Amino acid sequence: MASNFPRSDKDLHSVGATTLQTTPPFCLRSATYQDREWTFQWRNDPWLVSQSPSGKQVDWEDHTCWFSEVLDTELHLLLIVESQDGTGMGTVRLDKTGRDRAIIAISLLRPYVGKGLGVAVLGAACAAGFAQWPWLASVHAYIRKDNQRSLRAFKKAGFTPILRKKEASFSLSEMVLRRSISGEARHE
Ligand SMILES: CC(C)(COP(=O)(O)OP(=O)(O)OC[C@H]1O[C@@H](n2cnc3c(N)ncnc32)[C@H](O)[C@@H]1OP(=O)(O)O)[C@@H](O)C(=O)NCCC(=O)NCCS
Repeated sequence: MASNFPRSDKDLHSVGATTLQTTPPFCLRSATYQDREWTFQWRNDPWLVSQSPSGKQVDWEDHTCWFSEVLDTELHLLLIVESQDGTGMGTVRLDKTGRDRAIIAISLLRPYVGKGLGVAVLGAACAAGFAQWPWLASVHAYIRKDNQRSLRAFKKAGFTPILRKKEASFSLSEMVLRRSISGEARHE
């Protein structure tokens, strides 16, 4: 489904193939209004829905409301993952939640999973968040406990699990990446 994808001049980061040898090269750029329809299709991709915490599709009306809100970069950072020729590979998003924290969510389209891309995209997206938002101290992820690929990708990207009281009663694992005083993201 991700074939020709509109490019933007607003590339935030270009990341070469050096992070992992098998990682496809990719760019991250800020989403624009033109991405509204693509992101709707991707959001409802049956495989991605099956991996998502809610397991539910969204309708067009809800998506358009959400998308307009998300373009407010004070509160949200929606980044499009593209190949170097502009083919859409997925999205990664940070949402401000609380004074100094954000939640991250990533969705790669199925042809691009299992190649190490997720780890590199998570690293680049967190770096973009820490660079753009000086107040940001920690990035949190909520991942289905049966989504082993995702749990491993976040761990490899430097996230560590947060164990909560009555952990067994939660269906989602919480993981966190904190920014140290020197400004670098660190392992716990
Ligand atoms: C989750 C996601 C970002 C991971 O990125 P990815 O590029 O596919 O992951 P990687 O290829 O780096 O693999 C990560 C790890 O999982 C392992 N893995 C791959 N497929 C797996 C599977 N089916 N079961 C268990 N582990 C698997 C890999 O071997 C790797 O671990 P290793 O390096 O220790 O061997 C990506 O798959 C995705 O977008 N999935 C759909 C949406 C989603 O689940 N989002 C997470 C919720 S926020």
